[in-house]
Amino acid sequence: MKNKKTGEYYCLGIESTADDFSIGISTFKGEILANIISAYIPEKGGIHPREAARHHAEVASQVLEEAFRKSGLKPRDLLVIAFSQGPGLGPCLRTGATVARALASYLNLPLVGVNHCIAHIEIGKLTKRVKDPVTLYVSGGNTIVSAFDLGRYRVFGETLDIALGNCLDSFAIEAGLRQSHGMPFGAMVEKLARKGKKLIPLPYTVKGMDTSFSGLLTAAVNLLKKGEHKLEDLCYSLQETAFSMVTEVTERALAHTEKKEVLLTGGVAANKRLQSMVEAIAEEHNAKFCVVPSEFAVDNGAMIAWTGVLAYKSGLVTPIEKSFVKLKWRLDEVEVPWVK
Ligand code: ATP
Ligand code: FE2
Repeated sequence: MKNKKTGEYYCLGIESTADDFSIGISTFKGEILANIISAYIPEKGGIHPREAARHHAEVASQVLEEAFRKSGLKPRDLLVIAFSQGPGLGPCLRTGATVARALASYLNLPLVGVNHCIAHIEIGKLTKRVKDPVTLYVSGGNTIVSAFDLGRYRVFGETLDIALGNCLDSFAIEAGLRQSHGMPFGAMVEKLARKGKKLIPLPYTVKGMDTSFSGLLTAAVNLLKKGEHKLEDLCYSLQETAFSMVTEVTERALAHTEKKEVLLTGGVAANKRLQSMVEAIAEEHNAKFCVVPSEFAVDNGAMIAWTGVLAYKSGLVTPIEKSFVKLKWRLDEVEVPWVK
């Protein structure tokens, strides 16, 4: 309900599509009051969906408590509960959805199922004061070039197989790199790539507007195993090739749509080399270039809370009996009446 002291309304958002469990709280005006993220870091290798889901279940109440503490709000101050309904890993999504349903029914509040990919775009627009961008969203699970047209965010290009972040992570794992101090694999590849000098030819695959990284990954791993090249040069070449592919597609989407803003988001957006490549094409097309700040570029609850606000204000709610998770929910399936 409306807070008597502040006259504000609040939405709590739950994010749990993959390896992060996060809860954010947003006012109806878009002020983010809390954004607590608990990352699941596997002991070795990639994410195991059930292990990640177990992590989410274990930390849920602690993250919730922390979000209330940070925001200074009480559960009864809330007006809406939003959650990431998809796309993502089944066990992880279900854990977040269960927490959301429990909260909504206990507090007798409306529930809003949010599309995770749309949430990435909306929080980027909010935090960077961008209105109508071409968005390049690159993470461990997604590689999408999107822009708004006729009632929906359209997909201009996407990966045909693995995501860009997954390609970097898999290469790092094959190279025997170990995650330490919470440094993501992609950041380790970036650090090594900075010392790389030699550009080794690797498969560059853009089909129409779509990208493919699995052949690139296989080729890079094969060269790694041969041991003829320095790891630094391989990291450098992998980055140059993969980033050129997504930049090419982003540029074509920009030329086609004639939008005046480019937004870079997702975990891989933290990469300085990728930033400079995308910035260069934005400049060429006289478009403003923005990188979403890391806290809001990685998977986070604040983006779900804010998109929940936008959806709720447009009259969209998700009855509990229809709140099943959607593992392959595409962003272009969703009407976004709040975007004009
Ligand atoms: P999603 O569910 O949206 O697919 P995710 O679970 O992959 O997201 P994110 O935190 O958005 O989570 O992205 C993580 C990815 O970002 C990982 O692949 C990681 O290696 C990559 N990454 C993080 N920092 C960097 C960096 N500096 N350079 C390149 N990649 C990076
Ligand atoms: Fe994400």
